[in-house]
Amino acid sequence: MARVILGVGAGIAAYKACELLRLLKEAGHGVRVVPTPDALRFVGEPTWAALSGEPVATDVWSDVSAVPHVRLGQAADLVLVAPATADLLARAATGMAPDLLTATLLTARCPVVYAPAMHTEMWEHPATQHNVATLRERGAIVVEPAVGRLTGPDTGKGRLPEPAELFALAESILSSRTDRGVSPAPAVTRGGAGTGDGPVLAGRRVLISAGGTREELDPVRFLGNWSTGRQGYAFARSATARGADVTLVAANVELPDPAGVKIIRVVSARDMHAAMLAEAATADAIVMTAAVADFRPVARSESKIKKDGLVPEPIALAENPDILAGLSARRAADGPASQVIVGFAAETDPDLDAARAKLARKGCDLLVVNPVGNGRGFGGGDNEAVVLGADGSATPIPRRSKDALAGVVLNLVAARLKLVSCPIDRLLAAKLCQVTSLTDGEERGPSAVHLGVGYGGPSRQDGRPDQ
Ligand code: CTP
Repeated sequence: MARVILGVGAGIAAYKACELLRLLKEAGHGVRVVPTPDALRFVGEPTWAALSGEPVATDVWSDVSAVPHVRLGQAADLVLVAPATADLLARAATGMAPDLLTATLLTARCPVVYAPAMHTEMWEHPATQHNVATLRERGAIVVEPAVGRLTGPDTGKGRLPEPAELFALAESILSSRTDRGVSPAPAVTRGGAGTGDGPVLAGRRVLISAGGTREELDPVRFLGNWSTGRQGYAFARSATARGADVTLVAANVELPDPAGVKIIRVVSARDMHAAMLAEAATADAIVMTAAVADFRPVARSESKIKKDGLVPEPIALAENPDILAGLSARRAADGPASQVIVGFAAETDPDLDAARAKLARKGCDLLVVNPVGNGRGFGGGDNEAVVLGADGSATPIPRRSKDALAGVVLNLVAARLKLVSCPIDRLLAAKLCQVTSLTDGEERGPSAVHLGVGYGGPSRQDGRPDQ
């Protein structure tokens, strides 16, 4: 159980924070709600007190002997401010502390997340953007607002992300504190301290592909695969929880949008290729979880293909571009050299020698090899894998949640991003990456991993790929 401070700013989206509070409580966390004084105009103190089971105060003059303006922040595992108004962001960025919430933000040494909600004009104003940049530089996670209906008839960027997605982000941050094994750097460090000592991917841009591409035969049919996008969405959440600026290229995914993530929707492999190329140049890390169709029909019928009583013609196929190999080739030709590229290999018959050959063929830095099909490896929220490194390393990741698996892989990515920037870091991280203890999920030298290690756990019944 974690200690969470739920800060509530004075915005209409405060009512959504009630649902967020309920989710946090149901997960077993202790939650202290700290609204700003004006936030109580939207949702009253009795609601927060009843839902949290804890006292509610807005100023620093209640229960003074317990020194709440210092103790609350000091004791918290996570401070989550939802909604964060433009005014609240401004006060947090300048260090003003006129009430209990802003005082708590100054004393918190745990991860601090702001979920802004306001009208588009206020969000886009240079003053707000400057404050957001300041908070991010100091290590806070400021999630991008969602796009959609705002208060009144207008629409645009400025909505509070859905409570379930904010809850998932909070869980990802809390669980990243307890990741074991492969993370040479702490997954998330202090967020509110103003020390610049932020989450491991703070200021980094992470580009992720997810889902399964579809290749149209006619207006009603396509060649596709069973991928649901869950693993890619878990990467998006975990990268956001580590402070990254995340772009997700999603092919035919029907999951809710992860909080604070830019989403580009595509259908076919060629759409995905174009979107990934357009976004890749400025990415610090790329994670290709998508199941990309290797082939597409040579021709797409403009109208629905009908039975005509004859034996149907075979479908002629053309090969699609290999997006991952293309991204690696482009990095090699034009850079950025420091970019870390991660591929996935969902295999029905995992063979680490073949996987190593695939890693070399694709030119990526890490290849996450996971078993699929025939009732293995997929389903629900879990996955398992062996992560092969271009440096010869192999990291078994036993069965765990897809968010946790993503966290382990992202910690490997973070270590490699550091490797490139400084030769001393490179030596240090290389040492840390080659640890040989048998602790759950640790990275090992190539000799420590045998074929099939990390596979064979319980599986999804229908055998559908789920990444
Ligand atoms: N991939 C890609 N473009 C393709 C096919 C695959 O970018 N046209 C990426 C996937 O997103 C994944 C990795 O390459 O990250 C490996 O995918 P996989 O299907 O295992 O590789 P293939 O090259 O298709 O090899 P195989 O013949 O084993 O299917």
